[in-house]
Amino acid sequence: MAASDPLVKAARRARRHAVATFSGFKVGAALETADGAIVTGCNVENATYGLTICAERVAMFTALAAGHRRFRRVAVVADTNTPTPPCGACRQILWELGGNLEVILGNLSGETGRFWMRDLLPMPFDARLLE
Ligand code: THU
Repeated sequence: MAASDPLVKAARRARRHAVATFSGFKVGAALETADGAIVTGCNVENATYGLTICAERVAMFTALAAGHRRFRRVAVVADTNTPTPPCGACRQILWELGGNLEVILGNLSGETGRFWMRDLLPMPFDARLLE
């Protein structure tokens, strides 16, 4: 059943660590690597506001720093009834470093949507255009 997807559960658990001091909007993310490992992240805000980093990028950078390079899916969880999709900056990073991930959106009780990165970021700018 959708609500019990381990990746969504991991994102939900990671959300508890969010440092959402200014917005109060806590987000958790969980990335599934090609070998089945799960790496999580949460949003981290600070007093400049602009240096805030989203849960998705924390998860991706944490995974890269641990040596992971290939990914299958990402789950993003917020306490909202409508889906909370990755922001534009996160779409760029997820696409460039994660490829055409399946993106699973969820809240505290279940899933709110499933998408593919190629649909969330049509006509991307990426390394292919630098060749
Ligand atoms: N945020 C995320 O972490 N991921 C998203 O997909 C949407 C937005 C964070 C950034 C900021 O800390 C808070 O949510 C409100 O924008």
